[in-house]
Amino acid sequence: MSAVEDTRVLELEIGNVAGGGGCVARAPDGRVVFVRHSLPGERVMAKVTSSTRSYLRADAIEVLQPSPDRVSPPCPHAGPDRCGGCDFQHVDVAAQRRLKGFRIAEQLEHLAGIVREVTVEPVAGDEAGLGWRSRIRLAVDPEGKVGFRKHRSHELEYVDHCPIADPAVMEVGALGVEWPGADELEVFVGPGGTDAVVSLTTSNPVKVTLPDIKAGVVARGRVLRQPDAVHTVVAGFNFRVTNGVFWQVHVGAANALGNEVRAASGVRPGDAVVDLYAGAGLFSVLLADAVGPAGSVLAVERDRRACADASHNGKRYSLLRVMKASITPSLVEDAIGQPDLIVLDPAREGAGTGVMSALDTHASTVRKVIYVSCDPASFSRDIKALLTRGWSISTLRAFDIFPMTEHVELVASLTPPGQG
Ligand SMILES: C[S@@+](CC[C@H](N)C(=O)[O-])C[C@H]1O[C@@H](n2cnc3c(N)ncnc32)[C@H](O)[C@@H]1O
Repeated sequence: MSAVEDTRVLELEIGNVAGGGGCVARAPDGRVVFVRHSLPGERVMAKVTSSTRSYLRADAIEVLQPSPDRVSPPCPHAGPDRCGGCDFQHVDVAAQRRLKGFRIAEQLEHLAGIVREVTVEPVAGDEAGLGWRSRIRLAVDPEGKVGFRKHRSHELEYVDHCPIADPAVMEVGALGVEWPGADELEVFVGPGGTDAVVSLTTSNPVKVTLPDIKAGVVARGRVLRQPDAVHTVVAGFNFRVTNGVFWQVHVGAANALGNEVRAASGVRPGDAVVDLYAGAGLFSVLLADAVGPAGSVLAVERDRRACADASHNGKRYSLLRVMKASITPSLVEDAIGQPDLIVLDPAREGAGTGVMSALDTHASTVRKVIYVSCDPASFSRDIKALLTRGWSISTLRAFDIFPMTEHVELVASLTPPGQG
């Protein structure tokens, strides 16, 4: 549905938190309004930012009756018509977690048909929701200046500091120099800034003048200056992550999720494990250590560089095999053997019902499926395919690895019928 420009200011009573980082309200004409920068229970003056025939979008620009959960945003760039990177800078961090818990419960009920309360837990390394991003992505304007995009806009908010970034990201200095010719720029750092990579996306081949900053530089996948990867340690294991390869962004996330996957799986020495959507092999390596020499781990991943990282990261385990392949229902049915445990950690859109139904073909042999998800909606839709076939949720935990944003991570263990 196409949105039209509409700049009215409405007085609104704010209802529950909704997707997209806002809350729902009702406009005087009965249409739903998605209001950013608001909180449940508030009365606000909201400026409409776009409208369609069935709903409006708006920003709360004045708070007439504040929620007790409202705080002064720690970031000076947060607020209506400013940086679009965060949704909840105006919300107390504990209340952010309650809002996320509410959204998870709502989606589990609507999309998976289950009623379950979920407590969203902070992870280690969290400093009141700030200083956690080991990787930030910015847009670059035609003059080469970097900034964050405003919400649903191509306009930029120019920043010299991002409070949710790991201080080591800021120390690289990439925001203080100009990058003419680039469209987007990503800064990625290892723990404490031990190594750093700036990756540039450009629509045209450009000659990049290498700035005097302490970081490797990669443009359009071409390494202009080493390093092109960062190195990190999780639970005592070393990992290399090449630029462009997926890695958990929160400085405490890989540890928290790795621990939970191990614990929730109940992995034992000798187990055969399959790690689907394996990335750089985070779970594969931790599980390879747990299954020992009598076990095996098969990591399946489609990205060539991620596969190379996973092989490198798991090289001390001869029992760990990396398969470069796209995960499809037929692959899950026919090409992964008879695993005792299956881990899956798909991208935001989820695995899809085809892959989930294929997992059910292992129901008589697999002990558990561990599903790691950064999207409660696709997670709920996906697990429904197993729940309707008699599977049950044994454990479900939620981690706040994206503070100040609406996003949240889930780790669930699912048990096949007859084994609960
Ligand atoms: C959310 S990441 C998880 C990576 C890893 N488990 C971790 O925590 O670091 C998802 C990974 O799945 C891969 N991927 C996405 N769709 C895929 C598909 N259809 N087949 C295989 N791999 C896929 C992506 O390249 C990415 O590395």
